[in-house]
Amino acid sequence: MGRVSDATTQSPTAPGSTVHPADAPDAPWWRHAVIYQVYPRSWADADGDGMGDLPGITARLPYLRDLGVDAIWLSPFYVSPMNDAGYDVADYRDIDPRFGTLADADAMVETAHGLGLKVLVDIVPNHTSSEHAWFREALASPPGSPERDRYLFREGRGPNGERPPNNWPSVFGGRGWSRVTEADGTPGQWYLHLFDVTQPDLNWDNPEVRAEFESVLRFWCDRGVDGFRVDVAHGLVKREGLPDWHGRVGLYDEVVTEEGPEDGDAPGTDTDVLDHTATSSSPMWDQDGVHQIYREWRAVLDSYGEPDRILCAEAWVKPESRLALYVRPDEMHQAFNFDFLESPWDAAALRAVVESSVRVNDGVGAPTTWVLSNHDVVRHASRLGLDQSLPRPNGITAEDPQPDAGLGLRRARAATALMLALPGGAYLYQGEELGLPEHTTMPDEFRQDPTFHHTNGEVAGRDGCRVPMPWTKDSPSFGFGPGGTPWLPQPQAYGDLAVDQQDGVPGSTLELYRSLLALRRRHRLGRSVLAWDERCSDSVVAFRATADDGSSVLVVTNLGPDALTLPAAEVLVTSGPLDDGRLPTDTTVWLRSTDA
Ligand code: GLC
Repeated sequence: MGRVSDATTQSPTAPGSTVHPADAPDAPWWRHAVIYQVYPRSWADADGDGMGDLPGITARLPYLRDLGVDAIWLSPFYVSPMNDAGYDVADYRDIDPRFGTLADADAMVETAHGLGLKVLVDIVPNHTSSEHAWFREALASPPGSPERDRYLFREGRGPNGERPPNNWPSVFGGRGWSRVTEADGTPGQWYLHLFDVTQPDLNWDNPEVRAEFESVLRFWCDRGVDGFRVDVAHGLVKREGLPDWHGRVGLYDEVVTEEGPEDGDAPGTDTDVLDHTATSSSPMWDQDGVHQIYREWRAVLDSYGEPDRILCAEAWVKPESRLALYVRPDEMHQAFNFDFLESPWDAAALRAVVESSVRVNDGVGAPTTWVLSNHDVVRHASRLGLDQSLPRPNGITAEDPQPDAGLGLRRARAATALMLALPGGAYLYQGEELGLPEHTTMPDEFRQDPTFHHTNGEVAGRDGCRVPMPWTKDSPSFGFGPGGTPWLPQPQAYGDLAVDQQDGVPGSTLELYRSLLALRRRHRLGRSVLAWDERCSDSVVAFRATADDGSSVLVVTNLGPDALTLPAAEVLVTSGPLDDGRLPTDTTVWLRSTDA
């Protein structure tokens, strides 16, 4: 296996020197694409049942063309009991009736392509739903059968097998194993589920599992999709023997205890949760064996020829050098840069993560894939309004410290303006172009995230970032659908942020995103040379992005308390108003620069 140096240990490149070279003018689309994540349950509801659907998405696609993105990624729309909002798939080749039909999916892809938008779908290979035909067959078959071998069934420990096979907790809280009742009514084997009890982990050592997923990839490629976002890409292969684990227990950064569970024991408390981020010792994450799977998948996609169809890894892996292994030339095309998402709002931290990310990715010839929000994290308009010295929370409830909404939005706009000037690709999460905050006061009875329930409400979970989109202020459900109650309640504040309130309004967040995306395209920023500018300091991030025609954009983000004097140059866009020509705190400017 190729080794990649750990760029975080290197010192920052001096101002003026190149951090990252230009990408080829004919580089494939995905190396600099901006991809918009549609969360199908919450984007647009055509049939009025309170849940978004494919016809709703299709009808709203012109909005995305006008926004200026290159592609969309849709979270799962497959047949599912929806115990994890569709990340529990019962049939990978059909659409859940709540979202529509296969014909609706075909129409959505065709309409998107007609508008010049590519389409990525989600593939969930770490686990199926317990309602998948395979798992039903496994339950109906005896221990040691080929049907059970598609999953990770094991005998329990203890004289009567009454203790789980190892001590792994679940990411959603509680133990990572459940015991089944055998056909004769006796307590039987245990199966592994790193997520919900209804999401049994697949056995990727089984060739049948590998063949099945290659077939699923082909199924969707044959229907015209342009790629796949690969769910939990770092989880498929487990360390041989499934050894006990002594790492940190926590969801994302929500550390519950620093101590792992006892050997061979269930987790210490019911609310223990498994950390989603791989560390070098995790026996369930980031095993070297995953890479062979993605090499095989790459070959499947490449067999479809031009234009490239892509794979994007959702892999919570540290350090960056480990993540870069997923985007080597014969593996995936992109991997979300969660280190960037997790960076505190701090100039030195942002600069360090930008530089180390592009360095490690350049080392394997891959673009960097920037992201600030998605359906699993607190929206960045709220996250950046929290105390930056504290860990990133997994959801916010009314009892928690509330974000400073004004500060959060101001920083979010500055952060996005910084991100969209960087070389590589970027993902946007639906509604961030409206500056939507997290719903931080959602009453508990509406919360659906399994994390909230498995931790007895101790961890709020992800519902607050999944609330339906506001399209028009003065309509029921803010125009999300023609009627019905949306599946999650919308906060009142969403009314003033609705699309119709921002469309064409100078200075609105929607118009800011439109300007940023148009200018990014015009100046080919996704393919540009990156060099730090001498204005970089403890409180300023500043860089030049130079296109292949020599034109250069100077990007400055001021994180310090005092307004910054700017050089005389044409202002292309600012994330907020300038103060008498100077750059105020928490603001980013793009300047047309001639002295590059
Ligand atoms: C990924 C998804 C998340 C889901 C989990 C289990 O992290 O993004 O929403 O709960 O995988 O499939």
